[in-house]
Amino acid sequence: MGVESVERERESSEGTIPAEFIRSENEQPGITTVHGKVLEVPTIDFSDPDEEKLIVQITEASSNWGMYQIVNHDIPSEVISKLQAVGKEFFELPQEEKEAYAKPPDSGSIEGYGTKLFKEISEGDITKKGWVDNLFNKIWPPSVINYQFWPKNPPSYREANEEYAKHMHKVVEKLFRLLSLGLGLEGQELKKAAGGDNLEYLLKINYYPPCPRPDLALGVVAHTDMSTVTILVPNDVQGLQACKDGRWYDVKYIPNALVIHIGDQMEIMSNGKYKSVLHRTTVNKDKTRISWPVFLEPPADHVVGPHPQLVNAVNQPKYKTKKYGDYVYCKINKLPQ
Ligand code: OGA
Ligand code: NI
Repeated sequence: MGVESVERERESSEGTIPAEFIRSENEQPGITTVHGKVLEVPTIDFSDPDEEKLIVQITEASSNWGMYQIVNHDIPSEVISKLQAVGKEFFELPQEEKEAYAKPPDSGSIEGYGTKLFKEISEGDITKKGWVDNLFNKIWPPSVINYQFWPKNPPSYREANEEYAKHMHKVVEKLFRLLSLGLGLEGQELKKAAGGDNLEYLLKINYYPPCPRPDLALGVVAHTDMSTVTILVPNDVQGLQACKDGRWYDVKYIPNALVIHIGDQMEIMSNGKYKSVLHRTTVNKDKTRISWPVFLEPPADHVVGPHPQLVNAVNQPKYKTKKYGDYVYCKINKLPQ
């Protein structure tokens, strides 16, 4: 049994798409996107020596938007280009080669090649699908890496991904420090609360082939990330949209920027001060879009809740404290938290 593949669907279509990709009218990007207005989420210069200013910028962006772009982050552009080149090469392999890395059915593991994560709501007999294939690999810490899910082709896949993970540490440390200070906590507190050095980096590659009806389909449907923070690099094809005040806007592509998403666990740890951002992706008629989000996740058995120093008799906890694995289980299966 092969993995379902959007790539394969595309080959059989001519100006039409199968019904399971057609979104309902309240989701169709052709109808629901605010046109002619690209959303200017904040852009933050990470190399600014004025830490007080950076804290204010990060705190405001995390509270008001939940999404922002970081420039001058010190990850060399060659490291990002290599990550992108090897990922693209993998997805351009013949279908059979990709399926050698298929997520084992019922493994309970997220890692591997596939197309579906969320059980989407069925409408009648039709289960809706996103126009996207993906590959998940844990890339940090070394103790959680499962190389069986890492492509052996192209041969430099491993090196390129390890190099990216290595360069990501400094960004993660600095971002968590600024986010902590912005809440009035000591610099190391949020990282500690998220699992400390056991914080896991889960890389996902989203591969969105050209779609004959980009007005009707979506890539990834509207969601907030479950992670603490997600750090994403896209290729240069427009597709990421963020929801602001109930409306959908394209997020401007900035070469070499890291797109930061505040995820659910960060909203929880901050007791609601930082907001996880509602976002989705659209697809393109002629071009392939690819994106590389890294989800910074606590280990599954790590307990996450509002930070104890942020709650008291006046500021009651707004979220439950629970194991991250239980949070994920409830979210994927659409159960109440
Ligand atoms: C995701 C996601 C955005 C993108 O995979 O969670 O939101 O730009 N991707 O591909
Ligand atoms: Ni996302």
